[in-house]
Amino acid sequence: MVVIQQKGGAGKSTITVNTAACAGRSAVLSNADESAGAPIVAAGIDVQGTLEKWCAGVREEALPFDYVVTKSKLGILPGIVEDPERRRIIVDTPGFLDVDPDAEWGADPLGDSRTADALREVLEVADLAIVPITPSKITWDECEFTIERVLKPRGIPFLVVINMHDPGKDKHEKQLNKVKAWIDERNYPRVADPIRRYTIHEHAYENGTLVTEYKMSGTALNAREDFMRVALTMEQML
Ligand SMILES: Nc1ncnc2c1ncn2[C@@H]1O[C@H](COP(=O)(O)OP(=O)(O)OP(=O)(O)O)[C@@H](O)[C@H]1O
Ligand SMILES: [Mg+2]
Repeated sequence: MVVIQQKGGAGKSTITVNTAACAGRSAVLSNADESAGAPIVAAGIDVQGTLEKWCAGVREEALPFDYVVTKSKLGILPGIVEDPERRRIIVDTPGFLDVDPDAEWGADPLGDSRTADALREVLEVADLAIVPITPSKITWDECEFTIERVLKPRGIPFLVVINMHDPGKDKHEKQLNKVKAWIDERNYPRVADPIRRYTIHEHAYENGTLVTEYKMSGTALNAREDFMRVALTMEQML
């Protein structure tokens, strides 16, 4: 599965690590082979290795998945896909840095760069794409671009997930309903309910925490439910 959205900051990395954590915590246990890798793998292809910096900070006992950082090197992910021990691979991708503005409709707009080649490789083996969108309109055009120009031409099934719904500021869900209507007008499949915006998520990267490990509180439970829901919906799409 690939988490993809042209726009930066919509929540791709947050969704990748936390859905991997939820899937990892729900994985089937087997003592058959102690040396086997974890059934869930989170992967990152950006050259900065964001995912590695995040996961390396998590206590080993608290990390219910393996992680791989390719820094856009080709050949690594297709190898993991072939491994029968690995049940699910969730790949974090960077925003598109190098879109070709003159690409014809139907032509690949990802441009020519190391990252674009890495993205193409992931898309070739992907069974499902997760596209985050926010109630703020700032990500809507890029959500549509990602779906219409990158995913649909390749025939990759996709699932839109609303991230950063603010339950305090958008109490009456006006903003939320607007983005839901926008998605539904386009007949894009979406996760029924949004991932809520909570401050605890903002510090997860530097603190090396996952939603499955947040210190127990009402907010932590809500936060975990949000990502558990996304992980379950993803499973249903496969
Ligand atoms: N549900 C949420 N609640 C609060 N903060 C969030 C939430 N989702 C993401 N964030 C924060 O928003 C910022 C952007 O999120 P993230 O890094 O996951 O996006 P991204 O799509 O991976 O960005 P990029 O394209 O730059 O890699 C981060 O600081 C993250 O902590
Ligand atoms: Mg990211």
